Formats: sequence, C-alpha cells, structure tokens
Amino acid sequence: MTKRPDQPAATARLDASVQGLIGTALDRIDGPAKVTGTARYAFEHQGDAPPLYGHIVGATIGCGRVEQVDAAAARAAPGVALVIADDPRLVSDSASGSEDALPAYTREIGYFGQPVALVLADTPEAARAAAALIRIDYTIADGRFDPPALHDAADPDPPRPLIPNRSIGDVDAAMAGAAFTVDAVYTTPHHMPAAMEPHATTAWWEGDRLTVHTSAQGLSGTQRMIAGSMGVPREQVRILSPFVGGGFGGKTGVVVEAVLAAMAARETGRRVKIALLRRQVAHLVHRRSETHQHVRLAADAEGRLTAIAQESIVSQKPGRGFIEPVAFGSLSLYAAPARRFTQALVHVDLPAASAVRAPGEAVGSFGLEIAIDELAEKLGIDPIELRRRNEPENDPMSGKPFSSRQLLACYEEGARRFGWERRSPVPAIRRDGRWWIGHGMAAAFRGNFTVESRARVTLAPDGRATVETDMTDIGTGTYTILAQVAGEMLGLPARDVAVVLGDSALPVSAGSGGSFGAGSSGSAVALACQTIVERLAERMGVEPDAMTLKDGHAIAGNRRVPLADLLGGEALSVEGHATPGAHTRSVAQASYGAHFCEVAVDAVTGEVRVRRMLGVFDCGRVLNLKTTRSQMIGGMIWGIGYALGEEGVIDARTGQFVNPDFGEYHIPVHADVPHLDVHFVGEADGWANEVGAKAAGELGIAGAGAAVANAIYNACGVRVRDMPITLDKLI
Ligand code: MOS
Repeated sequence: MTKRPDQPAATARLDASVQGLIGTALDRIDGPAKVTGTARYAFEHQGDAPPLYGHIVGATIGCGRVEQVDAAAARAAPGVALVIADDPRLVSDSASGSEDALPAYTREIGYFGQPVALVLADTPEAARAAAALIRIDYTIADGRFDPPALHDAADPDPPRPLIPNRSIGDVDAAMAGAAFTVDAVYTTPHHMPAAMEPHATTAWWEGDRLTVHTSAQGLSGTQRMIAGSMGVPREQVRILSPFVGGGFGGKTGVVVEAVLAAMAARETGRRVKIALLRRQVAHLVHRRSETHQHVRLAADAEGRLTAIAQESIVSQKPGRGFIEPVAFGSLSLYAAPARRFTQALVHVDLPAASAVRAPGEAVGSFGLEIAIDELAEKLGIDPIELRRRNEPENDPMSGKPFSSRQLLACYEEGARRFGWERRSPVPAIRRDGRWWIGHGMAAAFRGNFTVESRARVTLAPDGRATVETDMTDIGTGTYTILAQVAGEMLGLPARDVAVVLGDSALPVSAGSGGSFGAGSSGSAVALACQTIVERLAERMGVEPDAMTLKDGHAIAGNRRVPLADLLGGEALSVEGHATPGAHTRSVAQASYGAHFCEVAVDAVTGEVRVRRMLGVFDCGRVLNLKTTRSQMIGGMIWGIGYALGEEGVIDARTGQFVNPDFGEYHIPVHADVPHLDVHFVGEADGWANEVGAKAAGELGIAGAGAAVANAIYNACGVRVRDMPITLDKLI
C-alpha cells in the first residue's frame, strides 16, 4: 500500500486537534430546531397574504398523446383561482444534472404522470378536488414498459455513460481455462429514492426577482435550471433550501413542481405552494433503473481470480443521459488480469432514471459480492480469505497507487468483532427452533471524489466565526461538521461558530450528492480558515505553525491573546475554494468497508429476519463520530431494504408504479432493523482533500444488501440472485 507522506497544510492543523472538536460525536447543531418543529421546510414559508396551492394533473397513460383537455368544470369549481391546462407554460418533465431548463410542455406522453395541467386554488383540497374534474382524452400507444423484454435490442455502447465500458485482457479465455468459475445473472428492480419529505416548493416574485424555497440537494444547478425554465438571468433567482427532509438522490435535480410553482407565481402575482403527493413522487421524481447483471468470475485452484466480468443492462427514457453505473464499485475491488465491465441500455417509456442512494455500487455490489460468495463456496475457501487473496496492490484499472485502503483491516476487525469464526461454512446447518440461522459478509466500496466547492468564513470582532456556503444539509450533519472544521481550525468551541447553509446567494458549494459533500465543502471551509490562520499569525508576528489557536485565543510562545483583540475591531472574512487538485489525480481514491450479517429464515414460511449487522469502514478522517456513524447505519438500513423489500413494481399495461407509496413500497421500518454495530478503521487521507475525509454518505449501503443475501444462503441453502429476496423465493 502506498501512502504519500506530504499532506496539505490544512490537514495538519486538524490532525493536531488542539480544540478537541474534530471527529468528536458532537450532537447535530440543527437537531433542536428539527425536533421542536421550528426548522421550516420548503412548504412552510407562508408569507403575509394567503398563498395559492397548486395541484399537478398528470397523464393517466404511460405512452401516447393528449388529444383534448376539458378544464371548464375545474375552472368553475369552488376556490379555484387559475387552471393552466394543455399549455406551453407548463413543463413536461423534471431534470437532473447539467440541463439548463426543464423540458418544454408536450402533448406526446412519454411516462405515466407526465404533467398535463396545473390547478391553483385557495386550499390544497380545493385544488385537488378541481383537478379531478379535468377531462383528458388520449390516443393510447403501446409503451415500452417492461425493460427485460427489450434486452435483445439493448444499445451495447450507449452515449455519455458515467463510467465508460472497459475491457482489459481476455475474459472468455480465462473462463475457458479456469479451475473454478461462476457465471450467473443477478437482477435488481426499480428503486425509488424515498425521502421522507416529499418534493415541495414555495415560490414568489417581487418585481423581476424570484424567490424559491424548495427541497434540493444542490443549489447552483437548481438555480440554473429554474432560471432557465423561467427565461430570466440566474442572478434574479434566489433558491433557499436550509432544511431538507432527506434527499437520497431524488433531490439532485429539479422536479417539475418547482418550475410550475415559479411559473404560477408569475402568472398570478401570488405566492404559490406545491407539494407532490407521495404517489406523484414516484412518477415525477426519477427512479433508479432496474439492473440485469451478468457476472463471470474465473479463478485458479488457489482462489486467485484470473478474470472478473460484470456486464449489465439498464434502462432509461429517451433523451435522458444518466446510465446506472452498475460496475462503479466493482472496477477496483479485486485484482484479476482479465477484466470486463460494461453497461448496455434499453429505452423505455417510464419515469427517467437517475441517481438514487449510491448509484452503481448499491446495486452492482449484489452481483459482484454474491458471485464472490458463490466462488468461495465452490473453492471451499472462507469468503474473507478469498477476498484477501485477491486484494490488489495498486488500482487494478489505472495502475495508480491507492491514496489509502484499509480494506483488509475492515475484514479483520469486522470478523473479530462479529465472531466470524463461528460461522458454519456449510449452509443450512444451524437452527434456532423453527428458524434457520446464517451468517454472511460482503465488501463495501465507494469511490471518492472532490468537487469544486466554495465557502466564506468570517471571524467577527467579537471572536466568533460564521461559515457561509450554499451547501445543503440533507439530514447528513453538514451544519455540524462544518462548525467542527471551522472551530478546530480557528480554535473556537462549536457554539462560537455559526453555520449558514442552503441559500444560493452564498458561495457556490459542491452540494450534497455522490458522497462528496463533507470532503468538498469541509475542505473549502478548512482552506478559508487556513488563510485566516495565516493572517492571524502575521499579526502575532510568528509563523502559522508556531501559533496555536484554542478557546478563542491565539497562543505563541508565552503569549496568549484573545482573537477579539487580535482582530482589532475588524472582521476578517475569507473565501475558501476547494478544487479536485493535481494531488488527487495521481492516486486512486475510494472508501472501503466490510459488512457482516446474521439472519434467521423461517423454515416454514421463508420469512427473513435480520438479527444483527456489523459494519467496519475506512472513510478516511471521521469528521464527527456520531453523524458519520448515523450515515453508515442509514446505508446499512438501505441495504436491508434492497435485499428484502424495496421493489418498484410497474404495471406493464400502463407503465405506472402500482406501489407508489410507503404502504406498498417496502422500505425497512424499526421492526425490520436490529441493532447495527459500526466501527471505523480509517485515518485522515490528505490525498483525498484538505480535511482528509473520504466518501462516507453512501459507503454504508454498498455491499450491505449482499451481506444480507449471503447470510440468507448460509442460513437456508437457497441462493437467490433476483432482488429483493422475498419469502416466495425461499420456499
Ligand atoms: Mo447520491 S444518490 O449520489 O445523491
């Protein structure tokens, strides 16, 4: 393992942790506001005058054409202010990524729920009741609603993939000559992001200036797309998203309700509020594509992999760019000379596919990590030992050294804490009354990226600091960790650091997504603080390294000067700018982990209960032990969901989700989740970024579901390769 010694300057001050703030399990500073209900979410910005409430009327067909819309009865309904139906002022779809505006209104229907009309009324109930009076005549066309039926027509080399198709060496030859092989197909279904707060927007205009409170993971793209859709310069649009009730990828883009609210506010001169109904979220917000994964592994008699292939087929609606990067986590996990990772694409008439809870790894790890478990069994080798034998020296794709990779330590620590040696290597051996008991594990991998991010840090004359950035806190702990980074760097207790987020008027950040938020925005804060430290050192007349900052004082030699005195009545305000610098490109970067799971499978009904689960992770520096642990726990719960319950079911006749709510789209609830044990083995990785923190947010989900699946096999001897593992597949 190669770990370069020279770390960026900001990291050293965090390493020293003189203030004792970095890494500690500090309670979330936004916690009291959230649990007392004083934190206001997008839909709760009421204003003085009564607002109008919008209800979006979606197509009730999945493919075809709107021929005629009769909105007369809706317009005459009580409380209705305006009905905009079959009208170019509407938009036809949400957008994610780099679009400059949402797609224009069209009568051609490409997915179920596509907006056809918007009703504005004095109450949400009046809007909804009036919406039910709108009559829409369609010509129905045959839709492409069943991706597997289209696999023969898949585009093997689709444009604009997140990860290009890669092929190294000859997998076919390796398979033909191998002592042991696995050759199997694994599938995962449509997934929904499933944030608790549905997408919602409150919008109003003052002259030509638009204010939009919306629930977003990133603000600058939201601002660009809303401004583009409204045809105004982005400087005239202010996006506010200080509190977000979960994102899960579903809030990485702009959903139609935000643009429709802004448009309707302009049309009416009123404040307009639109919240999607839970059932609308399923269709107007993107899904994660279902995946079909053909995995091949070839190994010699000692269990050394000679080939790995993961060839997948995913779906997308025409005109959209995102291709689920199934092999993201598989690329660099194991050594093997022959390697092949491809994604083919089928076009469907379904809601767009985009980023949902660890795009790629979350589902790709089912294929790879179950296949590794299958190979271990064929070889008669312990699954951890098999992984150890295939631990690469350098990144097997690029040949670059890893910045840090404590994966073996994750296995070791996890096995010890879990009691892995007590696992039966033979399946269907252990019973506890009517339950089969089994144990399984899987590796976790999540790529680390640093994304350009800015933050302003101001040290006020009273010695208190303010951090300002358009970064979001989607429930992850951003407010808290940025206070910790600034507090540690400037020698201030957390209570003396105010963090202001979620306002597009503030310096542009990375936003929340791709597990890059903490590292990127934290680094921007650290860099701003580093400049402040240098200026304070100048005033102290010492080198920065010779000055310690603690509890609001600068300490050098035998001098201890209050920061307020050093500031001399003037605020010091500095903008930090984190970039994915050259130092990050010379190494391969990722976070790692190992999941361990014990399940019980009812021998009669096939019911699965997860009895305990343990994860050990290397995500570099842990900025806050509590919030990072909570991220891992959340990811592991997602893994349980993907393994056992979550499945978006499409009605193949209409292209609509038949289970678009939490009653029928089965995310885990408390009764499904046992105590989850989380430990960290990583250390600060200065190559990753200035704060030394690697990807954490989505690390916990990668491999978690595969560990559950492998435990189920170990319990009852039934190998299920199609997720989720519902009880009908076990009996
Ligand atoms: Mo995450 S699905 O990359 O917001």
